[in-house]
Parts: sequence; C-alpha cells; structure tokens
Amino acid sequence: MTSHSTFALAGQPHLASLLTVVRLTLHILAATIWVGGQLVVAGLLPTVRGLGQGAPQKIARAFGRLSWPAFWLLVLTGVWNYFAISHQTATSSWNAVFGIKMVAVLAAGLGAYLHTKASTPKARGIYAGVGTLASIAALVLGVALAG
Ligand code: HEM
Repeated sequence: MTSHSTFALAGQPHLASLLTVVRLTLHILAATIWVGGQLVVAGLLPTVRGLGQGAPQKIARAFGRLSWPAFWLLVLTGVWNYFAISHQTATSSWNAVFGIKMVAVLAAGLGAYLHTKASTPKARGIYAGVGTLASIAALVLGVALAG
C-alpha cells in the first residue's frame, strides 16, 4: 500500500508554478516561430515563387526579422531552463541528451546563417535542410529533456 501510494504521488498531475509557466511558455513560443516558421515558409515557397522575381528573397528577409529574435529568445530562455533545473538529481542520460541538443542548436543556427549567405541554389538548399533538420532535432530533444 505504501509503495503503491508513493508511486501514485510521483505520477500525480500537478500544476507548474507561475514562473515555470512563463519560462517554458517563452521557450516554446520562440520554438514555434523558429521551427514552425521554417516549415511554413518552406511550404509556401512554390506559391511565393509565382509572385514574381525577388519575391522569395523578400519573404526570406521578412521571415529573418522574426526568426532570429526567436532564436536568441530560445538561447536566453534555454539558459534560464538549464539553471532552473536541479542538477544534483540530473541523470547521466539527461546530461548526454542536453549535450547533443546543444550540438543540434549550434547546427540549427549555423545552417540557417549559412543558408542566408550561400551564393548557389544548391548550397542554399543544403544549408536550409541542415538548419531545419537540426531545429527539429533540438525540438524533439527539448521535449525529452522536459521529461
Ligand atoms: C533551436 C533551439 C531550441 C529549440 C527548438 C528548443 C525546444 C525546446 C522544447 C520544445 C522544449 C520542451 C519544453 C516542454 O515540453 O516543456 C525544451 C526544453 C528545454 N530546453 Fe530547449 N530548445 C532550443 C534551445 C535551447 C537552448 C539553447 C538551451 C540551453 C542553453 C535549451 C535548454 C532546454 C532545457 C534545459 C529544457 C528542459 C526544460 C525543463 O524541463 O524545464 N534549449 N526546448
């Protein structure tokens, strides 16, 4: 009975504190813009191309004005997340996944940056692919970290 009720308590749904709600909401809101925005812009590209020469570049620049602030908000709230967690109790697999996520975040930022600087369509496509896949990886690993 005792062990059963201990287990039930550990799995019991509970509300997050107000500060945790603020921290995670900002982190997730920024992720929706950074990751979701990339997927939406990619999906709209065939239509945007039909709007005339230079339209994809204009849309890309406009998206960059939203996505880069979201990226830096992810880094800022990510550091906040890291320090909000009790590290004495973190498992070695949590630490390993955190390390892999940091590599994914770096690849996401670098891929997106090089995508904006690439001079050939092939390089632009490759960097966009790397940036988007790494962004999705960071998202999945983040969900795993939140437990
Ligand atoms: C491309 C950038 C990033 C994306 C897409 C992303 C996405 C996410 C998502 C979706 C979660 C799950 C939140 C939840 O389910 O409650 C999460 C959690 C987390 N993220 Fe990120 N993240 C990014 C960058 C970062 C950075 C740069 C750091 C650290 C410097 C970081 C540290 C964390 C930590 C520690 C958690 C667990 C939070 C908790 O359990 O309270 N993230 N992330």
